[in-house]
Amino acid sequence: MLVNLPDAAATAAAGARLAAAVRGGDAIALIGELGAGKTTLVAGLAAALGARVAAHSPTFALVHEYDGGRLVVWHVDLYRIERQAELAELGLDEIVGDPRGIAIVEWADRFDVMPADHLRVELAHAATARTLVATGTGPRGRELAAVLELPA
Ligand SMILES: Nc1ncnc2c1ncn2[C@@H]1O[C@H](COP(=O)(O)OP(=O)(O)O)[C@@H](O)[C@H]1O
Ligand SMILES: [Mg+2]
Repeated sequence: MLVNLPDAAATAAAGARLAAAVRGGDAIALIGELGAGKTTLVAGLAAALGARVAAHSPTFALVHEYDGGRLVVWHVDLYRIERQAELAELGLDEIVGDPRGIAIVEWADRFDVMPADHLRVELAHAATARTLVATGTGPRGRELAAVLELPA
């Protein structure tokens, strides 16, 4: 189902909805071109969990860890990763599925890093707004997708 996100606050609110539903070990894939709202959704999710989010990306760090909230948020951005060898250095195996937190991955379609059961969120431009389509790739992913499709 297509969800309309009329402005950036709506994208952040989608993240906040997820914050209320996620539990340790959950994994979320964010798919969408540059500017589609991926980072905005992560910020809304982390803020609603009560996590500290550092000012956006002053470095080239590819994994940001936001803690201090109900769960740790591991925010991964694969945009700058070009080869499988670079991916290995990120240590994603240790992050994805860790029950202390959730892994949320921008550009998750670039490499095969997600667990079999995850939430897939596709964001797209729609004139000046954005749209969102949520899909679960397994039972847990489908539970989380349903949260995003509830009427506001
Ligand atoms: N639903 C929306 N409607 C309009 N602008 C949005 C929406 N969601 C996010 N934006 C804006 O789009 C820009 C890019 O968002 P960002 O989250 O950085 O995208 P990405 O991480 O996908 O590249 C930001 O200025 C953000 O405020
Ligand atoms: Mg981004």
